[in-house]
Parts: sequence; C-alpha cells; structure tokens
Amino acid sequence: MAILDESWREVRVKKWRILVVGLIVLASLAMVVGLWIRMRSDLRVGELLARNNCDVCHDLTRAKKNEKGPYLWGIVNRPAGSVEFPYSGPFLNRIRERPVVWTEENLERFITNPALFIPQIQMAQHTIEHPYAFEGMDSSANRRDLIAWLKTLQ
Ligand code: HEC
Repeated sequence: MAILDESWREVRVKKWRILVVGLIVLASLAMVVGLWIRMRSDLRVGELLARNNCDVCHDLTRAKKNEKGPYLWGIVNRPAGSVEFPYSGPFLNRIRERPVVWTEENLERFITNPALFIPQIQMAQHTIEHPYAFEGMDSSANRRDLIAWLKTLQ
C-alpha cells in the first residue's frame, strides 16, 4: 500500500510539473508574439510619420534622388552634408565648424527642432517660394518610431 501511495504522489507531482512548465512556455510565447506585433506597428507608425512629414521634400527610396532636400536613403549614421546636394550656406558653415554624424541621438535632437540644432537650416524656413517647412516634432514616441523606420532605409 505504502509503495502504491508513493508512486501516485510521484505521478501527481509530474503532472503539476508538466502543467507549470507548459504555462511558462505559453506565457513566454505570448510575450514574444506581443513584442513582435508591437514592433511592427511602431515601424508602421514611423513610416506614416515619414510619409506625412518628410516625403514632401525628401526622397525616401533607394533611388537616391535629391528633391527639395537631400535623399534620406542610408541617413542613419551618415555624416551630415555628405551627399551631392546644394546645401545652404548656414548648413555648410555649421557642419564645417562642428561636424555631425546622423547617429540616432543626433537625429533625435535634430527632428525635435531642426533650427535649434542647425540655425537657419533651409528645412525649417518659411518663404514665399517654399511656404511649407518642417519646424520639429514634439512627441518623443513619434520621434522614436520615425527614427526606427529611418533605420530600415538601407
Ligand atoms: C520643407 C521641406 C523639408 C521637409 C518637410 C523636411 N526636410 Fe529635411 N531637409 C530639407 C532641406 C532643404 C535640407 C537641406 C538643409 C540645408 O541645406 O540647409 C534638409 C536636410 C535634412 C537632413 C540633413 C541631411 C544631410 O545630408 O546631412 C536630414 C537628416 C533631414 N533633412 C531629415 C528630415 C526628416 C527626418 C524630415 C521629416 C521629419 C524632414 N527632413 C523634413 C527640407 C525638408
């Protein structure tokens, strides 16, 4: 009798172990899938932000065409002012004095307020010929998503 009791207990303990391990595996899977879905939707938001705020002046494709501004393909970790484009005097002066590489941190500061980062930058100037200008993006969540998407342009 005692031996039988003992083996029943073992079976019960084993069942519990399988259940607990199964639950842990399921919970981890759900977490991974959840993170993956969030990452994808953040990238989708970043793409929409780029299309709405940058596309009007910048080519975002691998065609690397200059438009009103220089193309942005490969922008993350690209040295500022390094593509064949007629940059403005204030832009060139600023990067001659203090060279900039477009790291994620610098892009983050730049997108928050371009004219604060590079005074008189063309991108933020309203003129009669070019009434549209980009003066900055207030939401840090939006900036993060936008930069995450810019990183995919390579
Ligand atoms: C109104 C047009 C316009 C809009 C909108 C605009 N830009 Fe620009 N951007 C420019 C121009 C023009 C320059 C070149 C600046 C100069 O010569 O003073 C520039 C320069 C840049 C540079 C420096 C590139 C290099 O080669 O060093 C980056 C980075 C940049 N823009 C990112 C963005 C992003 C990201 C957005 C959207 C959030 C955006 N721009 C929206 C016109 C624009």
